Amino acid sequence: MNRENTNQTSDEFVVTPWEVRGKVDYEKLMEQFGTEPIDQPLLERIEKHTGELHFMLRRGTFFTHRDMNFILDEWEKGNKYHLYTGRGPSEQIHIGHLVPWVFTKWLQDKFNVKFIFQLTDDEKFVFYEDLDLDDTHSYAIENALDVIALGFDHKKTEIIIDTDNAKTFYRIALPIAKKITFSTVKSSFGFDNSTNIGSIFYTSIQAVPAVLESVRQGKNVPCLIPHAIDQDPHFRLARDVLPRLGYYKPASIQCSFLPALGGPQGKMSASDPTQTVYVTDTPQTVKKKITKYAFSGGQMSVAEHRKKGGNPDIDVSFQWLKILFEPNDKKLDKLEEDYRNGDLLTGELKAILIDKINNFLENHRAEREKARDRLDQYLIQD
Ligand code: TYM
Repeated sequence: MNRENTNQTSDEFVVTPWEVRGKVDYEKLMEQFGTEPIDQPLLERIEKHTGELHFMLRRGTFFTHRDMNFILDEWEKGNKYHLYTGRGPSEQIHIGHLVPWVFTKWLQDKFNVKFIFQLTDDEKFVFYEDLDLDDTHSYAIENALDVIALGFDHKKTEIIIDTDNAKTFYRIALPIAKKITFSTVKSSFGFDNSTNIGSIFYTSIQAVPAVLESVRQGKNVPCLIPHAIDQDPHFRLARDVLPRLGYYKPASIQCSFLPALGGPQGKMSASDPTQTVYVTDTPQTVKKKITKYAFSGGQMSVAEHRKKGGNPDIDVSFQWLKILFEPNDKKLDKLEEDYRNGDLLTGELKAILIDKINNFLENHRAEREKARDRLDQYLIQD
């Protein structure tokens, strides 16, 4: 399969683990996928345990879930869950990837639980024609640095590169694979007869970390998976199969996408550098990309903007501040108000975002360089 060739799930938009296209309607997607909205009672229940709500919960970036109440029921009985999320290492990390990981870090800090991070170098090898196993393995190492740079506690965090853990993974994946038919993966992922058999098998590998702790401890351990909604098809399938092998269904908490520079309703993806800010971009590159490509909700002229105001709902710079770079509600509200009433111009909003991103990335780049010496504390190998 090449990077463009994936299935279409509806006429208006496409969301699969490998492709997001069109204007994503998240309400419709929840219905299609069968996930639950994160409603007020659930927010209050989470807050009871965390003491506060992360801004990604307050602002609805994390908007849907599967079985969060089960995780909290078990927690209240004294049964600790573990966190699990991952990355398909096909490129450097872009800032969209940070959204679920920043939130996962908050969950780990609040609940003090174990966290497993999977790097699927096998996945990216079988799905992308232009990558060989050395490429995906070296991206896995590079991407691991970004995870460590976010500050996860090494005593509670394991990073797993699939091909370095094949012995452990294969034994757990096989019984899962045995319960999944070709027709199920075809309908879950849009595969056809030309799909290579590595890709067909792969989903069973993504299910493994959800039960790894249960296998290790010899008893069922609840698992919570934070991720963006594109990964849901994998876990919908895992939830169907794992109980038939005696495991709990993994729970999930899911976010919408940080949009690409040019489009307020799509997803940032790594394949188009003009639409993406990578964590390795220099301050000059960040400035250039945002100035040139960030979709604006402002008016055509300054005079018109002052008169009519801008629309933050479609403005990519505002969306990025809301989703990731301005955690302070008061400051965000003020930016929104000033933009809507025309006091704040697009160029000024972009300058605020450029500053925020470059400050964040300066620290991130320093932390990821320090992480090179600490990789061994996180990476496990069988
Ligand atoms: P990958 O590498 O495509 O994406 C890694 C994580 O980032 C999320 N994501 C985004 N979130 C917000 N805005 C965006 N623009 C954006 N783009 C990507 C993805 O949903 C994902 O959470 N097969 C997986 C790797 C994987 C995994 C997992 C992911 C293995 N196990 C468990 C989540 C949970 C992949 O290729 O992700």
